[in-house]
Amino acid sequence: MSEKRVKFATKLGIVAAAAGSAVGLGNIWRFPSQTADGGGAIFIFVYVGCILFFGIPLMVSEFVVGRAAQANTAGAFHKLSPGTQWKWVGRLGVLTGFVIMGFYMVVCGWTLDYFFQSLSGNLHRVSDFTTNFNTLLSNPLRQILWMILFTGMTAFFILSGVKKGIEQSSKFLMPLLFLLLFILAIRSVLLEGSSQGLNFLFKPSMEHVKPTLFLDAMGQAFFSLSIGMGCMITYGSYFNSDINFTKTAVQVSLLDSMVAILAGVIIFPSAFALSTNAGTIVDELVAGGPGLLFITLPELFNQMPLSIVWATLFFCLLSVAALTSTISLMEVVTVYLNEEYRLSRRRSTLLTSFGVIILGVISSLSPPFFNMLDVASAKFMLPLGGLFISLFVGWYLDRKLVSAQLTNEGTLNYGVAFLKVYIFVLRYVAPAAILAIFIYGLVG
Ligand code: PHE
Repeated sequence: MSEKRVKFATKLGIVAAAAGSAVGLGNIWRFPSQTADGGGAIFIFVYVGCILFFGIPLMVSEFVVGRAAQANTAGAFHKLSPGTQWKWVGRLGVLTGFVIMGFYMVVCGWTLDYFFQSLSGNLHRVSDFTTNFNTLLSNPLRQILWMILFTGMTAFFILSGVKKGIEQSSKFLMPLLFLLLFILAIRSVLLEGSSQGLNFLFKPSMEHVKPTLFLDAMGQAFFSLSIGMGCMITYGSYFNSDINFTKTAVQVSLLDSMVAILAGVIIFPSAFALSTNAGTIVDELVAGGPGLLFITLPELFNQMPLSIVWATLFFCLLSVAALTSTISLMEVVTVYLNEEYRLSRRRSTLLTSFGVIILGVISSLSPPFFNMLDVASAKFMLPLGGLFISLFVGWYLDRKLVSAQLTNEGTLNYGVAFLKVYIFVLRYVAPAAILAIFIYGLVG
């Protein structure tokens, strides 16, 4: 089977696929609402620390496991450590992917809904965007239909060869999204009264700090980078032998963080500038919760000439970014069913979609259930998966194998010091930090 495994054709294709998985609603929808909730600049500071100290090393570790095993997430642990209990780490990853899809697809549905609202010009006519978003939230049927449509689209791309097409097109759609975000950020910063928003984002203040700050920021880092569940293991198994893991992980993380920060620079300055009630704006932002993106952004569009065009383009590109993430999530679950239970790819995909739709329906009907899936996956399951993956690569895997994967069989000149530091991080730093944050988050 391993010889037949499809490989990504070009190096750009690899970075594009991994970045496509990472960049999604996590950056543009979840990051701003978590930042609002977490008190602004301090949250971002801790978040960036998490990316550097365990995000990048863990992404590299997942690539190592995937390419060494040439198998799906669960199969990879089975193959590299036969007869041990490590296979549960893979299974946890598959379950996590499933749980994430159970609420993520609902937000993907909102994105599609907003895309059509923009296209039809309806969004342009709205005067109260909070009410407009709440109308959607209070209509489960509307949410469910969009969610099912998005799940169906994801399944379609998983099943048809067109998946290659989406990888190809995301190579040019992603930069376009980036450019659009950049333009919107400039527009937002130029609004009168935006500087308060920038201060909130970049000037640390202890005023709104919460005891769960570290857990929240760590969860966001895992979620945003798509690590801790084996997405990057699955993608690593498609990588060619000459791909430089460290470089790829750094590139993907940098891109991912830049998109998140840009989203912040769009949303906060405009939220502060356009608010009629500056005194309570931070409370409003926090209360806005998951709606932040869908409330503040349309307000910003309405300040711009040709708002229909901007809004339509934005929600279209956001849907594409979300799609490349849901494809990577569904791929993990589908390939697991396909390779471990010998179900056909078609059946695996249908079964996965069916399960996701059930979770999605419950999430659409019940905001507490939606929140529970979000919190359980981002703040517990992903970091737990990450903890075990770092222990697996740091302690269990043969060091020669790890160093061969990291240096591409010695063709990359990293030197001994680099490897030592890397193993040290995986053995001690990442596990200790993750555990400490867990304990502090639960007790604090
Ligand atoms: N990283 C994706 C995003 O930010 C979500 C995701 C999480 C995808 C975990 C795959 C695995 O939107």
